[in-house]
Formats: sequence, structure tokens, C-alpha cells
Amino acid sequence: MIAPAHARNGVEAGHGLPVRHSAHPTRRPSRRPRPACRGESVTETIAVKADRLYKAFGRRPHEVVKKMKAGSSRDEVSSLGTAAVIDASFEVHRGEIFVVMGLSGSGKSTLIRMLNGLLDATSGTVTVAGQPITGIPAAQLRDVRRKNISMVFQHFALLPHRSVIDNVAYGLEVQGMGREERLAKARTIIRLVGLDGWADSLPSELSGGMQQRVGLGRALAADTDVLLMDEAFSALDPLIRREMQEQLIELQAELGKTIIFITHDLNEAMFLGDRIAVMRDGRIVQIGTPEEILTDPANDYVAQFVQDVDRARVLTAASVMEPVRAVVTTTGGPRAALRIMRDFQTSAAFVLNRDGSFAGVVRDRDVLKLVKAGDADLRSIILGDAVSVSPDAPLVELVEPSVESDLAIAVVDEKKRLLGVIPRVTLLAALGNVSTNTGDLPVIEPAATISVSMITETLRETALEGAAL
Ligand SMILES: Nc1ncnc2c1ncn2[C@@H]1O[C@H](COP(=O)(O)OP(=O)(O)OP(=O)(O)O)[C@@H](O)[C@H]1O
Ligand SMILES: [Mg+2]
Repeated sequence: MIAPAHARNGVEAGHGLPVRHSAHPTRRPSRRPRPACRGESVTETIAVKADRLYKAFGRRPHEVVKKMKAGSSRDEVSSLGTAAVIDASFEVHRGEIFVVMGLSGSGKSTLIRMLNGLLDATSGTVTVAGQPITGIPAAQLRDVRRKNISMVFQHFALLPHRSVIDNVAYGLEVQGMGREERLAKARTIIRLVGLDGWADSLPSELSGGMQQRVGLGRALAADTDVLLMDEAFSALDPLIRREMQEQLIELQAELGKTIIFITHDLNEAMFLGDRIAVMRDGRIVQIGTPEEILTDPANDYVAQFVQDVDRARVLTAASVMEPVRAVVTTTGGPRAALRIMRDFQTSAAFVLNRDGSFAGVVRDRDVLKLVKAGDADLRSIILGDAVSVSPDAPLVELVEPSVESDLAIAVVDEKKRLLGVIPRVTLLAALGNVSTNTGDLPVIEPAATISVSMITETLRETALEGAAL
């Protein structure tokens, strides 16, 4: 059973507190990049922008890039140097978690290091908060790094002889902040990253996960808008790693940071990323939301990469739902409902209230009885227990209701408007990554239990004068 989000806490096992774990918690509801608000230009919503970025190592890096721009392949220029990043362009929105994913050697670290100027680009530009950071003097670059971008490393890089609080406050000390002020700030951050009570410990007294919390705390103390994280959780064991991922998401929601996160772990990428850039041999081969990458991979390489993803936790109701076909309104009455069910050969119809909101489901037998009894009010037989889910619900949450009832699951928005339905066969097909392609026939479930002729007969027998069949 999956623990609901509120039951999953970010408490480190080492604290001795009860920790409830799910093997694979579902991905959080997506937070799509925020569109520009009124009075806010698009550039203000873009935290980091890379434009036609190249990095080559080796003897003649500029020659490598020049030849590649002229159409040479990576292999053809290998005698001149290694093209580590090739023609990378993307924009990271403010408040977004942007994941860069790819196999070892695909260029992820090289790319992220150009974003904060740790590595010079061989060609192309990087802009942070609207300011170019490529080709600027070293002093200016240090300034951008201090104010705008901080980095969390895979191996924590803590100062071993300093306490947790001094490690967290280290950057502030370097900036010249007074002792009292920086310790007060560090204390707040220590609480934020879940290290209350450990301020005076040395790094060696902490577990790996806790050490990485210190690393994260140190980056947060710098108060920059952008955090770069290069395989920051890869050295942690799986449970601690998952806790850190969850806590990162909580922190991100609380602090609104822009996070660029590198990983070669696909499930981590899918769990954390608002968008994912997939790299291969130095190139970005696709940028998209986890669902886009899963459902619409740009090429065979990406498709192969994502084939082992736990689809149930990445795909959402909205991405698999079907249009609602057998739909009636409370005001339409039972005869109309019966006719629609007959036409669609289904034993259930979705009912909408007058205001268009989802009211529930009616079954063919109940409607038939109503029609025979001459009762015109559909409302008495609406089954209120039809399952409805939000468009963001991951498929894993749909499995149980789908097993318990043969009714298609209704997908409704926050105003209870019916957006679509998910019949059981559709759910199974999505989970198994097979097509429900039945030619032009729509999926209609549950199948009719009363014959067409019987419905037609009943409608005829009970027809009011002038009522059409
Ligand atoms: N300083 C360097 N000098 C020469 N070649 C380098 C240097 N840094 C990286 N490379 C090469 O550039 C390519 C990309 O390396 P990079 O470290 O960016 O990959 P990565 O995706 O981060 O891999 P990993 O997952 O192993 O960390 C590799 O072929 C690597 O050997
Ligand atoms: Mg790397």
C-alpha cells in the first residue's frame, strides 16, 4: 500500500523516530513552469539560459567546435579533442526543478559546470538571472556565483574539523558576515534541513544522509536563487536517498528555489523533475516533462532509456483518460439516459448536474426500472460512489478502485467538471505500455448487460406521445 504524501515524513532513520516508507512513493503533483505574470517579462521568469553551448577538452578545443559546427561528427574530431557538450540550448524557469539525465560520460557535469562558470564554455553563452556569465572578468563571475548560484556536490565536500553549524555558515563567513548573524542564519537552516540537535557535531559523527543535509544547508545558506546539484544523492543508500528527494521537493516548494539537478538515475529524474533534459554523447536529445519523455520519447535511445520506468508512478490520469461518451444530465431524464446507453452499448452512464459538475453514475438496470415505473427523475438512482480522481493522480492510485468496480474512473478538475474517464482496459494498457488501439472503435466500459432490443422495446412501450426513440 502506498503511504499518502502526508504520511511520508522526511525524518532520517538515524534519528530513531518512526519512519514510514513506501518502496516507491508516487511522484509529486507536477508544478509546471510558471508562466509570466502581468507586468513581468519572460526574461524575469527565466533563471538560467544556455544558448548553443559547446565545451571541448583536449589539444585544440576551438578547432573541435568549429569542425562540429561545420558538420563533423564527434568521432571525426576526436584526434583534436573531446566534444563533451555539443550545441546545448535550454531555458530553466524560476522555481523549476530541471533535471539533466544521461549515462556516464554523456556530458552532464561538464554542462552544469559551465552554468556557474566553473568551466569556461568553448562556444555559446550562459545567462543567469538575465546576466551573461560567459566571457566576463573573474571578479564579476565570483560575484554572480556568490549572489546567484550555489552548488551541492556528490561527496559533500564538508570541512572535517568544523562543526555542522560552522560548515553551514562557512560561505557566510567567507562573505564577511558577522559571527552572531551568520550563526543565527545557520541555525534556521539547520532546522530547515532536519538537523536540529546536530549543530555542534562534527561531520564524521553523522551518517551519509545527514552529511548531505549539511551540504545542502551550506548551499541554502548562500541564499542564491539557483541551486546546482551534481549527483548530490547518488552516494546515499536507497532509503535515505528517497528521503532526501522528498525533502528537496518540500524545500523547493517552501523556498521557491530553481534547482538544476543531475542524475543518471531515471527514477530519480522522473520523481524530481518538472522537466528533464536527456543527454547522449554530449548532446541534449530531448527536453520534456517526465510524462512527455515517457509517452513520447524523441528517439529509440530515449525510448530504451525509459523502458524500465515505473509507469504507474509517472503517468497521470490526465495523460491516459479517454473522452466521456455515455454522458447524460440530471435534467435529461431516464429515457434519454437509456437511449444513450443503448447507443454506446454500455451499462453505465456518467451524470452531470445542471451546472455541469459531475454527479455520479447511473446503471442500465436502475434506469430501465425507472423508465418502466414512469419515473422521470434520474437523481434518485445516481450512484454517488463512482470513483473520481484529479487529473494529477498517478495511475498507481487508480489500480485499487479499478479492481473494485467495473465502472470507468471519472477524472474531474477542482470544480468537479468531468474531464474524461479511464476504463479498466485503458488503465491496464497504459500500465503495460501497450496500445488500446481497436481501430476506430472507442473503448466503452462497462459493456452493456441489457440487450439493445429489450431497451428499444421498453422505450417504445413507455413512449410518451411524440417522444422520439
Ligand atoms: N577535464 C577534462 N578533460 C578531458 N576530458 C574531460 C574532462 N572532463 C570531462 N571530460 C570528458 O568529457 C565527457 C563528458 O564528461 P562528464 O564528466 O561531463 O560526463 P558525466 O555525464 O558527468 O558523467 P558521469 O555520470 O560519469 O559523472 C567524457 O568523455 C569525459 O571523459
Ligand atoms: Mg558527472
